[in-house]
Amino acid sequence: MARCTVTFRPANVTVEVDTEKPVEGVGLAGSLLNIASANRVEIDHPCEGVGTCGLCYVEIEAGLANLSPPLDDELEMLDQTAPNPARFRLACQAVVLGDVVCRVPS
Ligand code: FES
Repeated sequence: MARCTVTFRPANVTVEVDTEKPVEGVGLAGSLLNIASANRVEIDHPCEGVGTCGLCYVEIEAGLANLSPPLDDELEMLDQTAPNPARFRLACQAVVLGDVVCRVPS
């Protein structure tokens, strides 16, 4: 899928992204963190998106299968930091491949 939408709650910001032209910035290209940053949605990212702080986690409300699969390092980090690792992803590591709705913790 080339074009899809990503919604960030609770801000209710929905953006259209082109998965064939991933947004660059901190974190992996095309990651939730990059898309959020490009659209003025704030997600904490103390380690600047290199995947070591574990604090950029977001809850995936829909479209978990539309994100790149988590690597072992991310899963270990989520186990340490996220409230429910099965429903959360590190925004800097989760690359958008299709429609996603996520919630940024306050
Ligand atoms: S910004 Fe630190 S793990 Fe994602």
